[in-house]
Amino acid sequence: MAQRLDKLIASQGTLSRSETVRLIRAGKVTVDGVVCRDAACKVEETCAVTVNGEPLSYQRFVYLMMNKPAGILCVSRDPKVPTVLDLLPPALRRKGLFPAGRLDKDTVGLVLLTDDGDFAHRLLAPKNDIVKRYQVRLDGPLTEEHCRRFAEGIVLADGTLCRPATLKILEDSEQPLAEIGITEGRYHQIKRMFGTVDRGVVWLKRLSMGPLELDPMLNEGETRPITEKEWAELAKATNFVQHI
Ligand code: URA
Repeated sequence: MAQRLDKLIASQGTLSRSETVRLIRAGKVTVDGVVCRDAACKVEETCAVTVNGEPLSYQRFVYLMMNKPAGILCVSRDPKVPTVLDLLPPALRRKGLFPAGRLDKDTVGLVLLTDDGDFAHRLLAPKNDIVKRYQVRLDGPLTEEHCRRFAEGIVLADGTLCRPATLKILEDSEQPLAEIGITEGRYHQIKRMFGTVDRGVVWLKRLSMGPLELDPMLNEGETRPITEKEWAELAKATNFVQHI
């Protein structure tokens, strides 16, 4: 799809529209090997564009993996509290990014940020059965009976029936560590599920969304683009056809 040269360059996130226009007018931008000084010139996504001599690697959408720390809101903007978007290094910032699926302010771990609405929608749609795995620390012991009840489908305090969830006890103690897998994303879902069996969540970390696993090399607060392989696996799991 053809679009204005200044818009195409600015959409990649590293330069503002006005910086882009300045560079174009200064003759610092080429299209298919020819200097172009017209910011409104229509170019195809397949054109070879250089900015300051560097090739522009055009990506229609971006997909970022973040290891979210506690205390950060999982929304695009908030006037008071820092959000996941505020944590992005400037090179990864881009208009239209949003978190695909929310974590609570105190929950840590995997967040996928994208500007691809269809992709996010498929990832979150319960009918696609994408399992979100979490590690959870609780304030009281767990038994196999709890695991059985989670597998049957917990009924929340407001009467909502949850889809079956897997619950595995990883560390059996007074404050046990467990792993839970759910295929929906209701508000405070895991905390509310444990609330029905009188257990409070003291720590919660998302480990994966379908085939996408949190990269153990990412420290809390860090973000990296997902790889082509990770994208392809996610796309396959959600029957998504469009390519990056
Ligand atoms: N369930 C919760 O209760 N909180 C989260 O952040 C994610 C799932």
